[in-house]
Amino acid sequence: MESNIPNEELIPRKLVEAEHIIEEEDEEFHHLNNPADAIKPIIKKYLGTPNHAEQLGNKFYLTDGDAKVEVVVVTDEIIRIRVAPHGVFLEDFSYAVPKLEHNAAEFTLFEDELEFRIATKSINCHIRKKDFFISFSDQNSHVTSTDAVPMHWEENVKFGGYYVFCTKTCHPDESFFGLGDKPTEFNLRGKRLKNWNTDAYSFQWNQDPLYRSIPFYISVNEGIAHGIFFDNTFKAQFDFGGEDTTKTSFWADGGELQYYYIHGPHMMDVVKSYHILTGTHPMPPLWALGYHQCRWSYYPEAKVKKIARGFRENKIPCDGLYLDIDYMDGYRCFTWNRKYFPDPKKMISELAADGFKTVVIIDPGIRVDDNYAVFKEGKEKRYFCRRSDDYFMEGHVWPGRCQFPDFTNPEVRTWWGGLFDELVQMGVAGVWNDMNEPAVFGAGTFPDDVRHQYDGFRGSHRKAHNIYGMQMVRSTYEGLRSIMKNKRPFTITRAGYSGVQRYSSVWTGDNVASWEHLKLGNIQCQRLSVSGIPFCGTDIGGFSGEPDGELFTRWIQMGTFSPFMRAHSAGDTKEREPWSFGEPFTAINRKFIELRYKLMPYFYSTFWEHHRYGFPILRPIVMHEQDVKLNHFRQDEFTYGDKILVCPVMEPGQTSRNVYLPKGKWFNFWSHEIVEGGKEVTVDTPLETIPLFVKAGSVIPEYPVMQYVGEHEIEEVKQNIYYSDYEVNSFLFEDYGETFAYEQDIYLEKKFVVNGNSRQMTIHQSMEGLYTPRYEGYHLNIIGLPFKPGKILADGKVVSDFIINTDGTVEFKFSKNFKHIEILK
Ligand code: GLC
Repeated sequence: MESNIPNEELIPRKLVEAEHIIEEEDEEFHHLNNPADAIKPIIKKYLGTPNHAEQLGNKFYLTDGDAKVEVVVVTDEIIRIRVAPHGVFLEDFSYAVPKLEHNAAEFTLFEDELEFRIATKSINCHIRKKDFFISFSDQNSHVTSTDAVPMHWEENVKFGGYYVFCTKTCHPDESFFGLGDKPTEFNLRGKRLKNWNTDAYSFQWNQDPLYRSIPFYISVNEGIAHGIFFDNTFKAQFDFGGEDTTKTSFWADGGELQYYYIHGPHMMDVVKSYHILTGTHPMPPLWALGYHQCRWSYYPEAKVKKIARGFRENKIPCDGLYLDIDYMDGYRCFTWNRKYFPDPKKMISELAADGFKTVVIIDPGIRVDDNYAVFKEGKEKRYFCRRSDDYFMEGHVWPGRCQFPDFTNPEVRTWWGGLFDELVQMGVAGVWNDMNEPAVFGAGTFPDDVRHQYDGFRGSHRKAHNIYGMQMVRSTYEGLRSIMKNKRPFTITRAGYSGVQRYSSVWTGDNVASWEHLKLGNIQCQRLSVSGIPFCGTDIGGFSGEPDGELFTRWIQMGTFSPFMRAHSAGDTKEREPWSFGEPFTAINRKFIELRYKLMPYFYSTFWEHHRYGFPILRPIVMHEQDVKLNHFRQDEFTYGDKILVCPVMEPGQTSRNVYLPKGKWFNFWSHEIVEGGKEVTVDTPLETIPLFVKAGSVIPEYPVMQYVGEHEIEEVKQNIYYSDYEVNSFLFEDYGETFAYEQDIYLEKKFVVNGNSRQMTIHQSMEGLYTPRYEGYHLNIIGLPFKPGKILADGKVVSDFIINTDGTVEFKFSKNFKHIEILK
């Protein structure tokens, strides 16, 4: 075997300091920067030269004589790389990727003097013989990703295993996106960021890390995108040309050096493939797309009812009402404070009769109290986490002294999931999972030595920390799902790891009532969306601090276009309901929340597009036009699905602003003015509106305004059809909205094709599926016709009773099952 320390020219300066000395095994030292005052030698080992390659099905093994590298062809676009420093791979287990699909049709191993090459239909993985550099190229031999240093590691003397490192070339024009909830600019170029789930009350711009760990990023270089998913749950870091502008590195304090290369060429392809690995969000109950009102805390019962009445009296739609920690008896999970809530079942059913769904909070900290059934049972069954010397892990959270279930143990998850039975019988419709980083007062989180069962693949808290919260909400979701049978549960979580979207929605945590946080929230939601977490939202209004009416209203406007829409505030702030600020704010808040309910079928269809096909819900501008470099830095405007472009107003007193529209024709949502895209336009932004644009050719379905989902039967669906002189497809998804019947294919997918010219406009509808909506017909609203219609033919029949409005829109009613409509001059 050749030396495994490669040619020094190839290694960045700081990595060459391989033989450094450290005082103790503090993992913070093991990164690219090594302390000068170190005393103990730690050797970084690098892959040597690969001497031969072996194939076992879709897996390829290469070795330098000691270390082994596994290359797995997952799909035509996804290849996984793993390194075993002494040739022995860890057992293949991942919470993020429950099942590794192997569906690449063809793959072949080639070898020549310089390299081994594994080729799929779409990509090549090259392993260079000289130095074990791994690179990827597309079918046009365009190299998208290449090692700058061979993969390397350091032994971890204290805990066992290795600190693992991968360094790739960073190109001058390369941009980076993803990584979940990082509160910083959308483009991550030049930044170094850490994954370690952290309770970050009133976090600041650039604060890192926050609540979630999503080790997945997307690179765009020379107009071509690829993704890297570093599936490693340990504390991990990413450096996107920050320390050395020519290098992108990622490394972790343990676990395997294991990553997936995910080919584009479009960002959308990368995100969709990432969802093939980690799954998508299940369809939420339709009501969860409505408006949610939360506060720390609404109590006692009379207060909760007053808030509920406030919505109905003010005629502001609302579906979700939240009970924060004060509903519990001494913050003991699964108990009720009977002084505040003497008969919760009755209260919840009264709220439900008025359309409100009650969501309750649950924390992982279980009060140490032998008179408390949950603690007693958990203790008897040994369900709580323990330290390395077998003492219980104890820490203080809301209830005082607590112990914490080990959610990485499947038996504990089943137990915890079952604890929701009583709450569900009482009528609780959703569960809010909080403090699950896990957060501990004072200490921050658990000590490193806490042990976890990890579904049989045991490990310390170093390995389990980042997935603790995800396993908590998984247990909640699975429990609810089995108790609620065919009804869709609603869950929300603060902490998470890649794959958490299979179990829950998320909110961005304890933000602040400031204009800066409104901007941050906008970026964070877009980022979460491209990082595989579609169902996300911010605490509207800001959790801590006091918004004024203007800020709150601007936040409601942005929140209308957040996949998850919830106002929340800390207990020491003033009342924060949509009517709390008086007029004109109440009326504008109502108008936007009503808009949310009108657009619900569009939002729901976009959710389906995510669930079924892996599209993100919010799409940043770069996702529409990744080949335009300037777009890599746009972070204000985004589209919801691909038809509605939104640009929140995020400055006080702003009366107009510039908005970039991707190429194509767009309709101003409010005025119906047609605007040519591919440029910035100036848009008026009085408090009553935000810039909203609809893509020409779109069919945007609309429900009548209701005070809550299902308030009354829908008799007809309005279809807003925007003229286009080129062909545009839209679609509508319909189903029961609350059951899992869609898993048995009981749903309807409708496709619309719109096209037109100066003399006619055509609309085709086709549908597939087994569901029959109850409403009878469509109310068609044609917007932007360039001619005055003389005749309308629907499925060959003449429509005689159409109306031409003064603004030029044309309205008529027709069967929901139409196939073809022609509007003629
Ligand atoms: C945490 C949550 C916050 C909640 C509070 C009390 O700070 O992030 O949303 O209201 O705890 O439960």
